[in-house]
Parts: sequence; C-alpha cells; structure tokens
Amino acid sequence: MGKVGFGVAVGCAVVTCAIAAVLLGRRVQSRRKWRRAVEMLQEFEEGCATSIGRLRQVVDAMAVEMHAGLASDGGSKLRMLLTFVDNLPDGNEKGTYYALDLGGTNFRVLRVQLGGRGSMILSHQVKHHPIPQELMSGTSEDLFDFIARTLKQFVEQEDDGSEQKVDEKKELGFTFSFPVRQMSVSSGILVKWTKGFSVEDAVGKDVARCLEEAMTKAGLNMQVAALVDDIVGTLALCHYYDKDTVAAVVIGTGTNACYVERTDAIIKCQGLLTSSGGTVVNMEWGNFWSSHLPRTSYDIALDDESPNSNDQGFEKMISGMYLGDIARRVLYRMAQEADIFGDDAYNLSIQFIFRTPLMAAMHEDESPDLREVRRILTENLLLPHVSLKVRRLIVRVCDIVTRRAARLAAAGIVGILKKIGRDGSGGVASGRTKGTPRRTVVAIEGGLYAHYSMFREYLNEAVVEILGEEVAQNVVLRVSEDGSGIGAALLAAAYSSN
Ligand code: BGC
Repeated sequence: MGKVGFGVAVGCAVVTCAIAAVLLGRRVQSRRKWRRAVEMLQEFEEGCATSIGRLRQVVDAMAVEMHAGLASDGGSKLRMLLTFVDNLPDGNEKGTYYALDLGGTNFRVLRVQLGGRGSMILSHQVKHHPIPQELMSGTSEDLFDFIARTLKQFVEQEDDGSEQKVDEKKELGFTFSFPVRQMSVSSGILVKWTKGFSVEDAVGKDVARCLEEAMTKAGLNMQVAALVDDIVGTLALCHYYDKDTVAAVVIGTGTNACYVERTDAIIKCQGLLTSSGGTVVNMEWGNFWSSHLPRTSYDIALDDESPNSNDQGFEKMISGMYLGDIARRVLYRMAQEADIFGDDAYNLSIQFIFRTPLMAAMHEDESPDLREVRRILTENLLLPHVSLKVRRLIVRVCDIVTRRAARLAAAGIVGILKKIGRDGSGGVASGRTKGTPRRTVVAIEGGLYAHYSMFREYLNEAVVEILGEEVAQNVVLRVSEDGSGIGAALLAAAYSSN
C-alpha cells in the first residue's frame, strides 16, 4: 500500500470512528433522555398515589368538612348550600313545563310533558345551543338576553297552544350550575363563577330575576318556578324513578354533589322545619379541599394559572374541564426536560389544547400500535412523528391522571355515605343504627362517568375497595341522563304556583 493509500485508509478509519462516536453519543444522550422521561413518569405516579389508606383519609375529611359546612357559613370550603328543595318529585306531577339548563359551554332548552301518577314523563323535547365565547365573559344583560331570546324561539316552535290558556304564565325550571346562595326555591344569588365563566357583574345578583327580566323584555310570559343547580336536577330525576336515591354526583366539565340531609343536622339554620324532615343540600364539593389529596406540581401550576386560583381544588383534580390539561402539563414538561417530542412540541404549551375527551380516546386505544393515539397526536397536537414507545408513555400519563381522579371521586361519594350513615360504619354522629343494610342509590351524571369506561371502572372498583364487598352490595351507582334539565322541569312542576 502506497503512502496515499495508507493515508486514505487512515482517513476513512478516522471518519468512521468519528461517525461511530457521534452515533454512540446520540444513543447515550437519547437513552439518558428516555431515562429522564421514565423517571418523571415515576415521580408523577408517586405524586398521584391513591392507596386505600389515603382514600380513607379523604373519606373522613369529606365527612368532617360536611359537618363543618353545615355548622356555619364559611366553616368549611364545602359551602353546603340550602336548596329549599324539601320534597323530591314523586310521580304525581302533571302538566307541561319548560326548563333551561345553563352550566357549561352549551345550554339547553327543554319542554317536558308530565302525565301524573302512572303515566310519568309523556314526552320531552330538547334543543342544544352553544354559548358564544364572548358572552361567557361579557355582561349579565347580554348573557340573559341571549338566553331569553333563544328560549322564546324554542317556545314558539314547540308550543302548539293545546296545553295552556294563552294568557297563563308558563312555568320554568332554571338549572343554573354555579354556586348560588338560595333565598327560596325560585331565587338565589350567584356566589361566584366556575368552569371558565366570568360575567363579573352577575356575581351578587339574583340570577332568577335576571332571567325573568330578560324574558319579559323578550316578550315571554314565563316565570321561574324552581332555580336549581344541575346536581339537584339529577337527584330529582333519579328519585322520581327510584325512591331509594339519597344523593347525586355530577362529574362532567365541572363536578358537584348533593344529598338529602336531616334538617336538625343543619346547625347553621336552626329551627329550619320542612314537612319531610329533610332537605336537599348542594355541597358544591368542587371546592372541597384536604391536605390528604395527592397534589403534584402540575396541579399547583394549573391552579396558579387558572382564573379562580385557590378555588375549586377538588374540581381541578377530578373534572373533565381539567384532566386533559393536567396530562398536557406532564407531557409538556417531559418535552422540555427529556425532549421526547423533538422540536415539534410547541402545541403542548397551549393551555387546554389537550381536551379530556381526546385524553379519554387515547387512554382507551386498544390497538397494538396505538393508532388512535397517533391520529390524535398528528391531527390535534400536530405531533406526527411520535414513536410507539413514547405513545405508550403518553397512555400511561392518561391512566395516572384518570385513575387518581376516579378514585378521589369514589372517596368523595363514600364520604357522603359516611356522613349519612350508609357506609356500614354507623356514620359520623349521624345517630343511625349500625349494621342495618339499606339499599342506597347514588345518581351519577356527567360524561366522565357515563362515557369514559376506564374512569367508570376505576371509580366503581374504588367504591368497593373502600366500603368492602358486603356493604358495597347495597350501594347502587345509577347513571342518570338529562337529569339536570328534566329534573329541573320536574321541580318546576313540584313547586309550581299553578
Ligand atoms: C359548579 C356546580 C356544578 C358543577 C357541575 C361546578 O363548577 O360550581 O354548581 O354543579 O360544576 O356542573
């Protein structure tokens, strides 16, 4: 080999070594990054742990906070609001009633025909309307005018004139799913907005009157017979069909629970008398807080950046508005610290881009190559080149977020059962006798439970885990649909002045 040949050979060897070194370096670096991603996943999982011990602490905290909220206003983050619903519909309601259901990005108008005993709900018509984004943070006048105009169109379409005399006032059940301090069953003052609404001049106003003024302006001869939270509508509808229903839970965009309480247990309203001896309490459990809740740095960041920070802590861990965004935050930090998405990760920095239904669809993707995960990453997050290994990691993140949420919701439900002495333990100062098994129905409404099967399975499993099989046999979690709307119409009928 001549000098030239030798030189070339050495050159080639050097280049080859250099390439090998670069490749090796890259591989080492990519292994290191992957290790970091896995480490972050483990940290997140540990931060979200919901051992049975921790769930029991949450159960106890819920029951204790319920007592505190019933003892005095401001005694707990659980507001425990009176609803003035003392009697739930029983099937005797008769006539045609309207309902208006405002509580998320859509609102619905309904017309319900009730046949009285035996014939139950004869028919109901529903129409959904999206709420224009600008109205969610505009003025209360604009919001209520818009709703009243839409309601009027609906009434004109549906009303065939056969049911009522022309000049008779129609009765409306108004579902307003935000914290309201009620003065009566048909009036109440908005305490604060949740779920992204911020029509600030409505806070402190009687929302039923705001609606009635707008209806008058729109030329509608209608009055609010019942102002209810969606959760109370859910309880009303489920109780209409099943008299063993004692509580209701909503887990949708937001979350809440209500239940039937003995009036003598409501210390903050001493002397409250009702014909039934009980009344429905709207817990506003989305605002529940306890140091036993497993909170991570991602939850803290989400809360800090929300328009209602330090509020709705439980809601931010378990409801549909937030779950996707918790997962997004974990993935975005993995993108930053472990570079799992290369240079494509910009979209993950956008708040709420990863909505909970997308998260659920990814989580429930059962295809071996996670095709649905790939589709959503490509179409919704503009991340077209994510490897299978990373797609699996994403599914794990979704699983951790959902499992924690479902198990905490389960603990909340058992907390209510404990408070009313239906958890098999005799109840915290509930004065009820130990050990008598009674069928107990809890109505559950909202997309997370009704349509996200992994969430539902985790929740059901946790209820049995906490209560034990024997007690859990007497507890029925009953899916309710349209309770927020139809239930409000039923309550309008039950409290109608006609
Ligand atoms: C509201 C509750 C409502 C729940 C479910 C929460 O954000 O505060 O009043 O029942 O969402 O819609």
